[in-house]
Amino acid sequence: MLSENTDNEVQFIKRQFLCCVPVKDISWNNFFSNATWSRQANFFSNATWSRQAVLVANTVELDVVKEYPIKINYQVAFLKYVISRLEKLTDSDVNDDVYDAFGRLMSLVDCERYYKHYNFDFDGRNRNIILEENPNIISEGTTGLCSWQAALGLSEWCLQNRSLLTNKTILELGSGVGLTGLVVALNCEPKQYNFTDCHTKVLETLRDNISLNVNRSDNADNICELNVINLSWEDVQTRSEDFKDVEIVLAADVVYDSSLFPCLRDALSCFLSNERCSEVYFCCTERNPRTLTDFLEGLGKSGLNYEELSLPEQDHLCWSTEVPIRLFRVRGNAAVTIKSAIKR
Ligand SMILES: C[S@@+](CC[C@H](N)C(=O)[O-])C[C@H]1O[C@@H](n2cnc3c(N)ncnc32)[C@H](O)[C@@H]1O
Repeated sequence: MLSENTDNEVQFIKRQFLCCVPVKDISWNNFFSNATWSRQANFFSNATWSRQAVLVANTVELDVVKEYPIKINYQVAFLKYVISRLEKLTDSDVNDDVYDAFGRLMSLVDCERYYKHYNFDFDGRNRNIILEENPNIISEGTTGLCSWQAALGLSEWCLQNRSLLTNKTILELGSGVGLTGLVVALNCEPKQYNFTDCHTKVLETLRDNISLNVNRSDNADNICELNVINLSWEDVQTRSEDFKDVEIVLAADVVYDSSLFPCLRDALSCFLSNERCSEVYFCCTERNPRTLTDFLEGLGKSGLNYEELSLPEQDHLCWSTEVPIRLFRVRGNAAVTIKSAIKR
């Protein structure tokens, strides 16, 4: 039996493995420390023979990982790292399960589809959102086939601020493969969730990911209405009538290409000029501070009020802090937004 503390440590490694945190960035806590006797648990903790088996069983050998595989190269790199650390320990041999799992992985050929699993406890239950994602950050001419750090940050914020989203009609811009939307739709009880994007392959993958997760949900009957809409930011104004019920707009990692800023800003103005729509929340990866500043200055010039919000703690989801992410709320300045909408 594992002590609660030990169990949490393996659970945390498992969670990082499932969403493919780069192996060099995984927090192992004390897993590879030399074994110590825990009087309370009556147990040798750290990388004991049995804990190694628990680690393997909770990562590469999980049935759900075999059914929806994580990139094989990643799993191999993960186990190689584990083996190299275990071999250096003076007081523990490497468990055969670890070598067996490594041998099995080495015999696998690459699959056509890869998945990441976002695993967290929420509201007293364990949740696992499984997304088909492309392992490359740009593929098929789009950045939308993988989840970005900002989607993780925004999802975490949504979980921690669920009451703001409950019973609301939400539209998300640039949904990509659907992480934020699925986290919200499956956990925050909105009235309706509208995923949008404009890239054909992204929309196809998004639909598949929604079906996969809704069908696996033990709460499928209670999930709100979900729509997938092919929507370019350029078209929001001409289609505004379609979105008159939207109350909250969400967006993650959509501020990166300055040539798209004018249409993105106009889209936000258009949503916020609607009386029902009170707020936009967007989360950005700050790759280049100047780019983000330009976007924010543009918001101000369009009469939109924005404020930066504190980033939430990583209580449910984990993301790298190497490149900062920042979170903003935008509210309309009714007088200015209505005037600019009339001018057009
Ligand atoms: C960097 S990805 C972010 C995806 C997702 N929100 C995330 O954070 O993981 C940007 C997304 O915006 C979409 N996008 C880019 N330009 C767009 C436009 N003009 N209209 C609608 N969607 C657009 C892309 O297809 C892509 O899915």
